[in-house]
Amino acid sequence: MSLREKCPIINFGDLGDERGKLVVIEGAQAIPFEIKRVFYIYDSDKTVVRGQHANRESEFVLINVAGKSKVRITDGKEEIIVELDKPMMGVYIPKMIWKDMYDFSPDSVLLVLANTHYNDGEYIRDYDEYLKEVIGCNDK
Ligand code: TYD
Repeated sequence: MSLREKCPIINFGDLGDERGKLVVIEGAQAIPFEIKRVFYIYDSDKTVVRGQHANRESEFVLINVAGKSKVRITDGKEEIIVELDKPMMGVYIPKMIWKDMYDFSPDSVLLVLANTHYNDGEYIRDYDEYLKEVIGCNDK
């Protein structure tokens, strides 16, 4: 499976009308997991690189509900860059995928949905360690 297929862009339905836009994200419906955690990142400078980790258990959907950012995604073999610039689209990031978020616009609000409660122990923050662990997970 290619990295694009592993990490699809999800386009959410628009329930907007003349009063404005409305986007609904229901766990296990619009996205492939039940939501246990929501966090958002804002006030990150353009020069900042966040993320820089992979997760053994967590799956995420990243959505720029305001402004723009980019996410660089790799499985240790391929790399893709996704520009998050619309509140109606997100990118799904499964377990054991390395990600860096960067190039935040001043008005960026990056919303993250996760299938887990926070557990520092499931984060891999060292890229060499990630590469060691991910060998064998790829091509499954
Ligand atoms: P970090 O993982 O560095 O954020 P990012 O992935 O956006 O770069 O998290 C920053 C701090 O916040 C770190 O001390 C862990 C803490 N944190 C939680 O306590 N709960 C959470 O759900 C998240 C994402 C982070």
